[in-house]
Amino acid sequence: MKKTLEEYRLIFLSQLNNFFESYGCDIQPVYDAVKYSIENGGKRIRPAFCYMGAQFCGKNCDYVSNFAVGIEMIHSYSLVHDDLPCMDNDVLRRGKPTTHVAYGEGMAVLAGDALLNMAFECFLADKNFDENTLKAVRYVGQNSGIKGMIGGQCIDLTNESKRGFTLEEIRNLNRLKTSGLIKSALVGSIIKCGATEEEVEDIETYASKVGEIFQIADDILDKTSTSSILGKDVNKDSQNDKVTVVDIMGIEKARAFMLKLEGEAISAIEKYGERSKKLVDMCKYLTGRIN
Ligand code: IPE
Ligand code: IPE
Ligand code: MG
Ligand code: MG
Ligand code: MG
Repeated sequence: MKKTLEEYRLIFLSQLNNFFESYGCDIQPVYDAVKYSIENGGKRIRPAFCYMGAQFCGKNCDYVSNFAVGIEMIHSYSLVHDDLPCMDNDVLRRGKPTTHVAYGEGMAVLAGDALLNMAFECFLADKNFDENTLKAVRYVGQNSGIKGMIGGQCIDLTNESKRGFTLEEIRNLNRLKTSGLIKSALVGSIIKCGATEEEVEDIETYASKVGEIFQIADDILDKTSTSSILGKDVNKDSQNDKVTVVDIMGIEKARAFMLKLEGEAISAIEKYGERSKKLVDMCKYLTGRIN
C-alpha cells in the first residue's frame, strides 16, 4: 500500500502543479498563503481515495484529476481553519509553521476561504464535466458542509471534558468531521464515475467506517507519537481538553474497536472482489498506522 500511495501522491502533485500553472493570480499575500497551505506536504490520503474510487469504476486517475485537486483544497482549508487560535490553536502543521503563524490570522482565514472557493472552481472546470460531476459536487457540498465536516467541527468546538460526551456522541462527531471528507473524496469520486446506487451505498458504508478509523488513529497518535513523525504538535487533545474515543475507552480498547470497524468496513465491500481489493488494503493500512 505504501508504494501505491507514493505513486498516487506523485500523480496528485503533478495534477496540482498543472492547476496552479494555468490558474495564475497576482493578489498577494493571500495567493502565496493559499499555495503554502496546500503545497506543504501532507499524506494526500483523500486524493488517493479519489483515485481508488475512479479505479473501482474502471476509470483512471486522470479522469478525476480536477476532482482530486478540489477535494485536497477543501481538506487543506479545513486544516488551516482548524489550526487557528480560535479553534485548536496549533503552530505546526505538516512539519512547518501553520498558515496563520506564517502569514497572520487574517490572511489564514482568507486563504482557507479562497481554497474552498477554488475547490468548486476546480470541480466545475473539469474537462470531463457532465451530469455525474454535478451530482458529485452536490454530494461534496453536503458532506463537507454544515451537515458534514463543518457540523462536526462545530460540535468539536463544544467538546470539553465537563460536557461528558458519550461514546455515541463522540462517534457521531467523528463521522461528521472526518468521515464527511473521506466520503466526499471516495463516494464523490465514484458518483462522478457513474457508480450504481448499490455501489454508492456500499462504498458509503465503507467510507464512513474508514473515517472513524482514521480519526481514532489520529487521536491515538496524538498521545503516542512524536511531533517530528507527525509534523504537528502532540498531546494537543488533552491540552485543549478534547475528549476522544481514546479517552473514553483507553488505548487498548480503542485499538480493538478500530479492528471491529475495519471488519465492518471490509465486509461492506468485499463482495466486489478484485475491484475493491485496493480499498480493502487501504483500510488495513490506515488501521495499521498506530503500530
Ligand atoms: C488530519 O488529516 C485531520 C484529520 C482528519 C485527523 P491528515 O492526517 O490526512 O493530514 P495531512 O493531510 O496528512 O496533513
Ligand atoms: C481535525 O481533527 C478534523 C478536521 C476536519 C479538520 P483534528 O483537530 O484532530 O486534526 P489535527 O490533529 O489537528 O490534524
Ligand atoms: Mg480540531
Ligand atoms: Mg486540530
Ligand atoms: Mg488530531
